Amino acid sequence: MDLLKRPRRNRLSPAIRDLVQETRLHSSDFVIPFFVLSGSNRKEAIPSMPGIYRFSKDLIIKEIEAVVKQGVLAIALFPVIPEEEKDLAASGAFLENSLIPLTILEIKKHFPHLFIICDVALDPYTSHGHDGIIDSSGNILNDETVEALERQALILASKGADAVAPSDMMDGRIKSIRRRLDQESFINTNIISYAAKYASSLYSPFRDALCSSPKFGDKKSYQMNPANVREALLEAKLDVEEGADILLIKPASIYLDVIYRVKQETDLPIAAYHVSGEYAMVMSAHEKGYLDASKVFYETLLSIKRAGADMIFTYGFNCIAPFL
Ligand code: PBG
Repeated sequence: MDLLKRPRRNRLSPAIRDLVQETRLHSSDFVIPFFVLSGSNRKEAIPSMPGIYRFSKDLIIKEIEAVVKQGVLAIALFPVIPEEEKDLAASGAFLENSLIPLTILEIKKHFPHLFIICDVALDPYTSHGHDGIIDSSGNILNDETVEALERQALILASKGADAVAPSDMMDGRIKSIRRRLDQESFINTNIISYAAKYASSLYSPFRDALCSSPKFGDKKSYQMNPANVREALLEAKLDVEEGADILLIKPASIYLDVIYRVKQETDLPIAAYHVSGEYAMVMSAHEKGYLDASKVFYETLLSIKRAGADMIFTYGFNCIAPFL
């Protein structure tokens, strides 16, 4: 054949393939989520997330040590709150010496340089499992919820959280949280905004982990319609104006177009959350022998980075760590 251009030349050996590789994964790309239990020496399996556990804070230290040794720089904390401690006002979210504040202090003692990201949302603490304060008809009240989120964020910042990550999708919460943190001198606490969080069916294993499934209705009046991408740009731009430091898109692997568009059209770093359902689907196929979870996660996380994510929250880190 008379071919001037033969793209296969750049794929013929491992060396040339590596030399022309455009996107690479590093341990420092990842944020590792942890589900925190009260008490000590507790480790509970989460059946819908094979390989992932809820840990009490003493055991989390050992888990963190392992990932830090592999070069991980950041973790995210999510509390598992017993049913009897939940209420309509999400009171548990505003307690000074409660599970997450104490866990932050303990982790900082052992790993002062680890970047700790704390979720700001009421759903682990509300008796109904929604991310907001509700009225008597079950409507989520935006402004009352934002006020509660400010208080929650302030406690987390005061205990040493490096970043607060509002995952609730209320309007105006970034501006209010930023103002409140600044008023109280927490000018260096980073805000990672879940700017485009979709009302996805892929969060159910996470809700199993936290026992936080909504007791009525769904989250569609605050989380976004999976059909929309222009709305994600609107949300992202508002969060930029309101003072976010990092924009997060969630879920990740079936929303690569959203990651790409938000990356192109804004200037902030982009985080993506490879969520519990994205993890569970691959793990269950792996357990059946249909595919190799490590390879699928590697490819998926690479795609998420290629689309524009600067950092990725994932439960799949341990599966891909040997290949980094
Ligand atoms: C809480 C929150 C959720 C997730 C992260 N923060 C659940 C939800 O919104 O219902 C999901 C993460 C995952 O599925 O891994 N607001």
